[in-house]
Amino acid sequence: MASSIVDEIKERLDIVDVLGEYINLQKAGHNYKALCPFHNEKTPSFVVFPDTQTWHCFGACQTGGDIFTFVMKKENLDFREALQLLARKAGVSLHATESKPDADRLDRLRKLNAAAAAYFRETLQRHPEAEAARQYAVKRHLDRDICDLFQIGYALESWDALEKAMISLSFSREELVEAGLSRIRDDGSGQYDRFRGRLMFPISDKQGRIVGFGGRLLGPGQPKYLNTPQTPLFDKSSILYGLAQARRAIREQGHVVIVEGYMDVLAAHQFGYHNVIGSMGTALTDAQLRQLKREAENVILALDADIAGQQATLRGLEVARGALARETIPVLTTGGLIRFEERLQSNIFILHLPEGKDPDEFIRSHPDQWPAVVAQAVPIIDFYMRQAVAELDLATATGKAEAVKRIEPVIRELSDNIKRYHYVQKLSRLLQVDERYLMEQFAAKAPRRRSSHRSSHMPTVPTGKLEVIQLTREEYIVAQLIHYPTMMSDINTTLASLNQPSLREDDCENATNRALLQWVMQLTQGEEFTFTLDNMTPAVREQQIRLLNGTGGQPELPYDERLADIVDVILHMRLERTQEALRQINQLLKEDHSDSVDAKQYLTLYKRHASDSYNLQQALKRRTI
Ligand code: UTP
Ligand code: MN
Repeated sequence: MASSIVDEIKERLDIVDVLGEYINLQKAGHNYKALCPFHNEKTPSFVVFPDTQTWHCFGACQTGGDIFTFVMKKENLDFREALQLLARKAGVSLHATESKPDADRLDRLRKLNAAAAAYFRETLQRHPEAEAARQYAVKRHLDRDICDLFQIGYALESWDALEKAMISLSFSREELVEAGLSRIRDDGSGQYDRFRGRLMFPISDKQGRIVGFGGRLLGPGQPKYLNTPQTPLFDKSSILYGLAQARRAIREQGHVVIVEGYMDVLAAHQFGYHNVIGSMGTALTDAQLRQLKREAENVILALDADIAGQQATLRGLEVARGALARETIPVLTTGGLIRFEERLQSNIFILHLPEGKDPDEFIRSHPDQWPAVVAQAVPIIDFYMRQAVAELDLATATGKAEAVKRIEPVIRELSDNIKRYHYVQKLSRLLQVDERYLMEQFAAKAPRRRSSHRSSHMPTVPTGKLEVIQLTREEYIVAQLIHYPTMMSDINTTLASLNQPSLREDDCENATNRALLQWVMQLTQGEEFTFTLDNMTPAVREQQIRLLNGTGGQPELPYDERLADIVDVILHMRLERTQEALRQINQLLKEDHSDSVDAKQYLTLYKRHASDSYNLQQALKRRTI
């Protein structure tokens, strides 16, 4: 329960914003640096990692953590107080979240969705009544790999085929309704399958867990797409289609392209453009943008060019205005938030496709031209200016006045003087009005020098080459084991000789690494597989591939050295965690005098960790002799 609140808070707050309120962060490559607030130093050794949403002091402290550990340390709070503080900041109500459906129930619904997706997939591939659907997939040029990657399936033209299949897997009728897979009849006399005779697109959350579906009719009819309604798992406003599959490419390339439709996403991925995700036909929400900002610096919106050009213009304007309006909101709030939104603002680009094409059609007919089209995306303000004057006659005085009226508020709200000046200049060229008049009108304190800013500063085109990756300790351990699973028993024997417990799942804090470790364990213990390569979630598979690649370039150590090395890493990692735990318990003991029962528990915990710590230090000493 508590962990879901913590997750939600972490989802909403960015570590750079939160820590930025306490310390002066300087951008250093992808990360941020600062003078460590926890010890005295002259050169910054305190680093914030936006990717993992963690911080670490590489100086005297040698410690790190997430926003919670930071706030606890900095504000001298216990965990409960830090939770309250950050919840308030994130706008998360602790009470509302506590009454959320419990984790077990959500887990059941996830399993049901996964089972339904597998059933739909199987139906599409093999069911005799799915012939038309198979032909439709062929007609839409969906190849086998892409259908596998996105688990495309088919819901039979039947009122209860899915229901029967799921009940035979011991899911209940109530669960089917709760997951949005079945609907209650209007007269309340039973229920029926929601999706019938539709090509099924499973929709997953960013961890790759299926939370809902979109289903397309094979022919004409309404609605063309039917989507899962709001359910405890499926909240359309926070989900982006294909994010799990695209995440890795988005991070590698530093930019994400957002298209509208399911088919658009599939086409892009099929042609190797893996940084493309879908907004599922609705305007982007705050929750979606917030998520994306974690993954990429630049967000590129691909607007469908409707057949009626006019409509596209209006729609484009609406999207742009929506995005711009959002960006101005935080100006009214705290310092940290302003910076966060500015980053969003300068990094939204609009991509305009040639008339009459949607990305699906465009990519399939000109696959090689896609990168060039993406590279021509323009910053959202440029786009807004262009759209705002599209139907005005700028040769006339009324046209010019109207253009200024529309564009002025947007330029005025730019918080950066240089940028403001840049756009005033641009407007002056556009209207052929001397920029001095405009400047007076805007009454902006912009410097009177030529800005070197160009109108479009696009992200560099990715090279597609694998970079050398940094592994955490636990990733290193898992990576070694994926490469050499048979080392497991020697590792455990060595650990035992040092009075240490065997390697266990708990040694991995990260859920993905833990899943991989579990996989290796099953592999080496000759157990029945409950968790196979096939049913790994995309996130786990992605991490597996990353780890396989990550150690590929390292020189081969002789077996004994490799073994010694990995045992060392395990011991160090355990020691570090024990010591962190001791620090935290210390904190709790110091802060929480309110309840003597708590204090007793903390003391017991403290003793246990202290003895663990002692044993680990002994083990490490013996190893280094
Ligand atoms: P489009 O009408 O552009 O569909 O809607 P599309 O993706 O190009 O699909 P095809 O090529 O006609 O098969 C864009 C997106 O809007 C949502 C879907 O997510 C769709 O992919 N949408 C559209 C719905 O949810 N319901 C609808 O009835 C239509
Ligand atoms: Mn389409």
